[in-house]
Amino acid sequence: RGKRAFIAGIADDNGYGWAIAKSLAAAGAEILVGTWVPALNIFESSLRRGKFDESRKLPDGSLMEITKVYPLDAVYDNPEDVPEDVKANKRYAGSSNWTVQEVVESVKQDFGSIDILVHSLANGPEVSKPLLETSRNGYLAAISASSYSFVSLLKHFVSIMNPGGASISLTYIASERIIPGYGGGMSSAKAALESDTQVLAFEAGRKHKIRVNTISAGPLRSRAAKAIGFIDMMIDYSSANAPLQKELSAEEVGNAAAFLASPLASAITGAVVYVDNGLNAMGVGV
Ligand code: NAI
Repeated sequence: RGKRAFIAGIADDNGYGWAIAKSLAAAGAEILVGTWVPALNIFESSLRRGKFDESRKLPDGSLMEITKVYPLDAVYDNPEDVPEDVKANKRYAGSSNWTVQEVVESVKQDFGSIDILVHSLANGPEVSKPLLETSRNGYLAAISASSYSFVSLLKHFVSIMNPGGASISLTYIASERIIPGYGGGMSSAKAALESDTQVLAFEAGRKHKIRVNTISAGPLRSRAAKAIGFIDMMIDYSSANAPLQKELSAEEVGNAAAFLASPLASAITGAVVYVDNGLNAMGVGV
């Protein structure tokens, strides 16, 4: 039987989540997607209208099939957590069962189990503010959406993940080195995500034989990255200074994720794997 993957954090064909889905599909996995509730309608209608057909193309010429798209808001674990104003918001009211616990229950009902969990989402409402100017609410929101969202997804999915399965998240080097401009507590959120990768690797490894790794990716012009505002500069900086002087493609991150999710990586867990043209290894710009 082919593997089944759930990828949280796809809302268009530009981000890392989409590229990871494609690499997993090319390797024969069945693809389930979790899409942020406010982005669901436009993503599904674009899919239906064929807007992504060109980028659905796999190396063998076939088109990636997404078996099912689930609405998801990874900031809420169950319906009791959802504030009234969000419940009443018409973009949310139009969908149902989008808290983490409900999504996992739906996947269980629909498919029984999964093998691969991918977390490719982040949100920091104050990302453009320096940490020194970040509010408590902004900081906590960044951690909730970008770090605890992974703890919660793994916690709920692990009970329906087949032994030998794997989970992968996406992190950024701003967790361990100073990247001015990556503010709002997002650097803190990535540090938490990386630390949690180790602790969760131990807990999920011992209890469920599940591997937990994270990819520290180089800069990509995704929707989320464009919102931060300095992505072109980071891409230029990387091309100028990294050991490999080429633009990083999302596909390169997708392929690393497919490797980490596969039995080829059966002894790799608790790791931060750099997929960044080697930029992390530099000590100074040149
Ligand atoms: P993206 O915009 O394609 O993906 C982010 C996704 O998160 C979006 O689809 C958005 O709808 C979703 N999202 C936001 N809040 C959510 C919530 N509460 N519940 C569910 N989904 C939610 O952008 P990108 O850049 O591909 O981001 C994917 C991951 O890669 C993130 O963790 C990001 O921090 C990481 N990353 C990105 C880099 C870059 O340069 N683009 C570099 C290193 C890491």
